[in-house]
Amino acid sequence: MTARKGIILAGGSGTRLYPITMGVSKQLLPVYDKPMIYYPLSVLMLAGIREIAIITTPDDQDQFRRLLKDGAQWGLEFTFIVQPAPEGLAQAYLLAEDFLDGAPSAMVLGDNLFFGHGLPDLLQAAGRQDTGGTVFGYRVADPERYGVVDFAEDGTVRRIIEKPTNPPSSYAVTGLYFLDGTASERARMVQKSDRGELEIVSLLESYLKDGTLSVQQMGRGYAWLDTGTHSSLLDAGNFVRTLSERQGQQIGSPDEVAYVQGWIDDAKLLDRAKLFGKNAYGSYLRWLVD
Ligand code: DAU
Repeated sequence: MTARKGIILAGGSGTRLYPITMGVSKQLLPVYDKPMIYYPLSVLMLAGIREIAIITTPDDQDQFRRLLKDGAQWGLEFTFIVQPAPEGLAQAYLLAEDFLDGAPSAMVLGDNLFFGHGLPDLLQAAGRQDTGGTVFGYRVADPERYGVVDFAEDGTVRRIIEKPTNPPSSYAVTGLYFLDGTASERARMVQKSDRGELEIVSLLESYLKDGTLSVQQMGRGYAWLDTGTHSSLLDAGNFVRTLSERQGQQIGSPDEVAYVQGWIDDAKLLDRAKLFGKNAYGSYLRWLVD
């Protein structure tokens, strides 16, 4: 099987967070002690993915390059791709078509944070499916803000509906999509919606029709956090702070994941630690080596 490749979709206009995002990309904002994109990046790394495309607006690409470099510091390989205008999540598969070159993929939205015991197993299981797609359903109090799963009586998935006024269930589809090598080809068939976007739910619909979409439950033991509003962004930061201070462990550190995966050795991790001087992140990386 061809190795699964990753996509982080980190474009968009971020208007809901204006004025903060008038000068900087949303996915570069801090979530407590790390840039937001570190968290979804760590998720792809936990899934064992090492070749990753980062899709940004034309204006923001330089800042992402400055932060993330070419990926070698984590044993990764980054490809930077520009999305000229925010024309929908499914457009990522068109923009990344050459990069994917028919490989299966995992796409994560640059503003989605996941946390939970057993997450690596869940991700690796999804990664092992080389045909069809896997997405994750997560129970939320405000499903109307998301893509929502419509279940048939027998529990099978009938449809996934984008931001329904009357949600058919409380299960939102998270921004993490494991799709097989046909995703780009299928994305070419997707028509723009009324709001002028190539909708991810239309792409998922194509898998649903073929009976090859699996909707996995991400249970209540997981945290799937939103950063879509000023208060949810602050809540996400407080969540990370509470947990990491209590446990003395980092959440969403690509340095730690690379080290634990064996993609970088002691020397490389210590090199990274030097960049952070005596701050808590640097001390943590040194502690990992000890
Ligand atoms: O977070 C999960 C939800 O993400 C799903 O449940 C929905 O089905 C899916 O449509 C999406 O909903 P959002 O309302 O969160 O989509 P939004 O337009 O805010 O875009 C999500 C992220 O993707 C955001 O950080 C910006 C980025 N983006 C968005 C679009 C439309 C891009 O990079 N390019 C784009 O063209």
